[in-house]
Amino acid sequence: MLLRSKPGLLLLLLGPLGPLSQGALAGPRQAKDIVELDFYTERPLHLVSPAFLSFTIDANLATDPRFLTFLGSPKLRTLARGLSPAYLRFGGTKTDFLTFDPKKEPTFEERSYWQSQVNQDICKSGLLLSDVKKRLQLEWPFQEQLLLREQYQKKFKSSTYSKSSVDMLYSFANCSGLNLIFGLNALLRTADLQWNSSNAQLLLDYCSSKSYNISWELGNEPNSFWKKAGIYIDGLQLGEDFIELHKLLVNSTYKNAKLYGPDVGQPRGKTVKMLRSFLKAGGEVINSVTWHQWLDKLGLSAQMGIEVVMRQVLFGAGDYHLVDENFEPLPDYWLSLLFKKLVGTSVFMASVKGPDRSKVRVYLHCTNTNHPRYKEGDLTLYALNLYNVTKRLQLPYNLFNKQVDKYLVKPSGPDGLLSKTVELNGQTLKMLDEQTLPALTEKPLRPGSSLGLPPFSYGFFVIRNAKVAACL
Ligand SMILES: *[C@@H]1O[C@H](CO)[C@@H](O)[C@H](O)[C@H]1NC(C)=O
Ligand SMILES: *[C@@H]1O[C@H](CO)[C@@H](O)[C@H](O)[C@H]1NC(C)=O
Ligand SMILES: *[C@@H]1O[C@H](CO)[C@@H](O)[C@H](O)[C@H]1NC(C)=O
Ligand SMILES: *[C@@H]1O[C@H](CO)[C@@H](O)[C@H](O)[C@H]1NC(C)=O
Ligand SMILES: *[C@@H]1O[C@H](CO)[C@@H](O)[C@H](O)[C@H]1NC(C)=O
Repeated sequence: MLLRSKPGLLLLLLGPLGPLSQGALAGPRQAKDIVELDFYTERPLHLVSPAFLSFTIDANLATDPRFLTFLGSPKLRTLARGLSPAYLRFGGTKTDFLTFDPKKEPTFEERSYWQSQVNQDICKSGLLLSDVKKRLQLEWPFQEQLLLREQYQKKFKSSTYSKSSVDMLYSFANCSGLNLIFGLNALLRTADLQWNSSNAQLLLDYCSSKSYNISWELGNEPNSFWKKAGIYIDGLQLGEDFIELHKLLVNSTYKNAKLYGPDVGQPRGKTVKMLRSFLKAGGEVINSVTWHQWLDKLGLSAQMGIEVVMRQVLFGAGDYHLVDENFEPLPDYWLSLLFKKLVGTSVFMASVKGPDRSKVRVYLHCTNTNHPRYKEGDLTLYALNLYNVTKRLQLPYNLFNKQVDKYLVKPSGPDGLLSKTVELNGQTLKMLDEQTLPALTEKPLRPGSSLGLPPFSYGFFVIRNAKVAACL
């Protein structure tokens, strides 16, 4: 409850969307496979942010800043733009091992990136040159190994980043229509263990001189600073550090910028204690409380009133990716894209009648009316079937005869469970070219038909002309 006491955004950082990338054989049709649904649409339970589904670029990408030039990939930008509006959080364990060095020269790769800017519009230039890209892609597996080894051994190398690195990150966010949240290093400490803000001040001065619009964080999982760096910081000290950062922001062009924190791990045990004393000391200066969770359901987060969920990670080293090292979108990307396009911000209560509720999960929102096909009053149901047989969802009586558009996602090709590609309504999803995402084409169902959901699949169903007053 403590977590809700703070008004404003609650941000949650989490792993993969669910067992969506799995598939199996559909069984024969049977009455017991019918699942009846109950909706409560009088009033929304919650409103989530339009940026509800947001994501991270792991700060470890800046460990060797040459690899930041990957962010110049036009394909990656197109994919990121598809998910806008969203926050792009630059953070992770390496947040607390990176220092800004304004005197550092850009690398050869970074220089060639900026030299490729052929016209004034920074977003429409050559960006990542193909020979540079090829070379870096060959080196990337070794870099990734190195980063994973650091993580495994919990021994993190410190490194520095240049102005050029900041520019690269910012132009990626800005040109993709994303709002950057930058994680500042919280392990820079004075002899008496207070946060040493001098490096943050240098970075703020630089970003301010470039008129960059950025929100800020300080530190990543401070509850495990001892394990990572042999430094113990309690909640009270951390609260004071946030107050110090807030002072710097107020005395800069970032007067009105958002400050998020404290980015603790799963709130339980000692971490709850830390969070509590943090909020007591520094709660006034932050705009929202953030913590990590691995609860893997977006729908549940929306029902719980969490306003923004940060998926790990758009691209880079780490466990869960939306886009692979060749800039190819993975199954989770397509699900995120469908979610963005179809799911609106008002969240309703929806439930499954009877014993199926443990294995059939359903979530209900107003439809996102930025979608040209839909209008106010429409509903989007999204559902997950954890059974190994097909289930047929039955809408509540008053919606029974409405027109429904189905968007069913299944793995495609011979690799089944391990497939890196997915089908939407039977058509493999792939980019048309570097600048163009495919159309996400619905399959209209006959009014009155049940909504079939194959084993281990995820489906979105838009109920048209539902005329739900709370969505008008
Ligand atoms: C700056 O970013 C925030 C979101 O992080 C946004 O709400 C605000 O409108 C932006 N300001 C400008 C001047 O673009
Ligand atoms: C803070 O860090 C800067 C840069 O490393 C250093 O010059 C300064 O002396 C430090 N301040 C304190 C109070 O430790
Ligand atoms: C961010 O992008 C917008 C257009 O997308 C542009 O007008 C603006 O100048 C950019 N801001 C910076 C600081 O680059
Ligand atoms: C506010 O910023 C100015 C210019 O950056 C600096 O000279 C001054 O010392 C700062 N004041 C405080 C209270 O930090
Ligand atoms: C589904 O799972 C049950 C046990 O949970 C098993 O008995 C059954 O054979 C499975 N069916 C298929 C089609 O895999």
